[in-house]
Amino acid sequence: MIDSTTKAQLQEIADRYPVARSGLLPMLHLLQSVEGHVSTDGIDACAEVLGISTAEVTAVATFYTMYHNEPQGEHHIGVCINPGCAILGGDDVYAAVCARLGIGHDEVTADGKFSLERIECQAACTHAPVMTVNWEFMDRVSPEQAVGVIDALAAGEQVESTRGPKVTSWRDTARVLAGFDDGKAADGVAADELMLAGLKRAKELGMKAPTTKGGE
Ligand code: FES
Repeated sequence: MIDSTTKAQLQEIADRYPVARSGLLPMLHLLQSVEGHVSTDGIDACAEVLGISTAEVTAVATFYTMYHNEPQGEHHIGVCINPGCAILGGDDVYAAVCARLGIGHDEVTADGKFSLERIECQAACTHAPVMTVNWEFMDRVSPEQAVGVIDALAAGEQVESTRGPKVTSWRDTARVLAGFDDGKAADGVAADELMLAGLKRAKELGMKAPTTKGGE
């Protein structure tokens, strides 16, 4: 059952856009922040607010891997398994995390504390191998460090991303993704030397992005 507050916030998101259905992606994130997943009630509520069919909402909710139709853990752990991370130890990190949690891809621990996902490239290859906790980065993580992060979260300790921000919960992150500011956007590093190395080199070489057809 979607409560009246959530329905009002779904409407608030839809109202941000000239075409209301453009708000569907953040609306789905809002549902995840409230329910821990996208339920059929949530799909019905989105369809009602947007004036589209439940089949259209379901098509979107089941296409993108960031949306889940089953309840996720309080902390959502992602380990990148794409080649850039895998060859630098990502596969070992994933194996260690699976062993620590006793679950595999797209599964949730029995106590509901953790869910695990093999994730695709997070555009963080400069800091490979990476693990994410509620989408906060743990850069250049070793298997031991990854297990240490999970141990600390399991013990209720405060954990910080290697980029600075404090880790809260997967639901909190989903609310931010829905566009509700938590006031922490400026926490941590925005872009470090490694991330900007390509841009710096391109400038040294006088490279420019190609112009579009209209020359703009
Ligand atoms: S390959 Fe893992 S972040 Fe790009």
